[in-house]
Amino acid sequence: MNEIGVFGVEDTAVQVCWESLPAADAVLRAGDVDVPLDHHDPGRPGAVVLEGLAPDTDHELVLEVGGGRRAVGAFRTLAPPPGRLLCRFATISDLHIGERGFGLLPRVRELPARPPEEGYAVRCARAAIAEATAWGAQALVVKGDLTFSGRPKQWELVAEVLGDAPMPVHTTLGNHDVVPKSTDGRDILARHGISLADEPVSVDLPGIRLVVGHSAVPRRSVGAVDRHQRETLVRLAGGSAGAAFVTLHHYVDRLPVPSRYPAGIPKREGEPLLRALAQANAATLVSFGHTHRNRRGTRHGLAVTEVGSTKDYPGVWAGYAVHEGGIRQVVRRISPPDCLEWTDKTRRVLGGFWGLWAPGRLTSRCFSHQWPAHPGSAQR
Ligand SMILES: [Fe+2]
Ligand SMILES: [Fe+2]
Repeated sequence: MNEIGVFGVEDTAVQVCWESLPAADAVLRAGDVDVPLDHHDPGRPGAVVLEGLAPDTDHELVLEVGGGRRAVGAFRTLAPPPGRLLCRFATISDLHIGERGFGLLPRVRELPARPPEEGYAVRCARAAIAEATAWGAQALVVKGDLTFSGRPKQWELVAEVLGDAPMPVHTTLGNHDVVPKSTDGRDILARHGISLADEPVSVDLPGIRLVVGHSAVPRRSVGAVDRHQRETLVRLAGGSAGAAFVTLHHYVDRLPVPSRYPAGIPKREGEPLLRALAQANAATLVSFGHTHRNRRGTRHGLAVTEVGSTKDYPGVWAGYAVHEGGIRQVVRRISPPDCLEWTDKTRRVLGGFWGLWAPGRLTSRCFSHQWPAHPGSAQR
């Protein structure tokens, strides 16, 4: 991210983030929309969403400060998917609640250290849920690595954070939740109204079925999808009256040997799942966590995304707008200054490579995807 720039784009909105602003009397302008930044602190990071833009239109982003005017970016708003808007939902991933430092070379820590309930992982998760709620999400999917190491205190904090969400919450586990010496947090979650089943679950929203699977294997970092789970996920996605959104914590490796860090689901297990999902319901979007980065690809004709963590750079949540003829994904940075200050700090990890690698391209984070028109699609 440069000093100031576009991070997320929608059909009628854009999120602009900055590391610091020189003065408090700045105004951001795009199209006919301008937003005064007078409530933002000079010298601190911030973000703002400009709403009410024309869809499918090129825009110049202009910053006005002290009578001066300069272009700070250009972007094109998305064309919405075809048909009426049916619902919105959101995802968060890789909360790692209980984590006290991030990465290597350098390892970054929050100084001065705060108590766990005020630490960066909790702050980012709470802010993500608040922003997704304000965006209009009617359900929240949490894609695993809820905790840093599955300790009871960490589960208590996760349960409080997710239990406070005003919308229904559907979650799966990640490898961090099942490390050696971790405890089973399901009873603690259940006390806060969050259920976590052994089997994949599905939830029907208008126009789409959310299907949440489980790829975490106790005491292992790598993911797995056995035949029973594959058949269950495919049956649930194929049984949707409309489209499907299928999520697992681990991504499916593209190569027959582990090709990326952290390791995902071996290709021999994951590829048959993706192939079968495409055959069962071509109107399916598959989304993973685990890598803490933002990517988008196509597997067997399906749109497949990875979305980053709430608590390390860029520090995001994802929103999905479901239309009759497709789905729109937006990834937004979590924007309270005390979250941005932390996630900006984590850019330095791996000699600064993390800050370049994790965000992905704007077109990988924010896009409209039209369902293929054939029997089994959302248009039936
Ligand atoms: Fe993670
Ligand atoms: Fe993970």
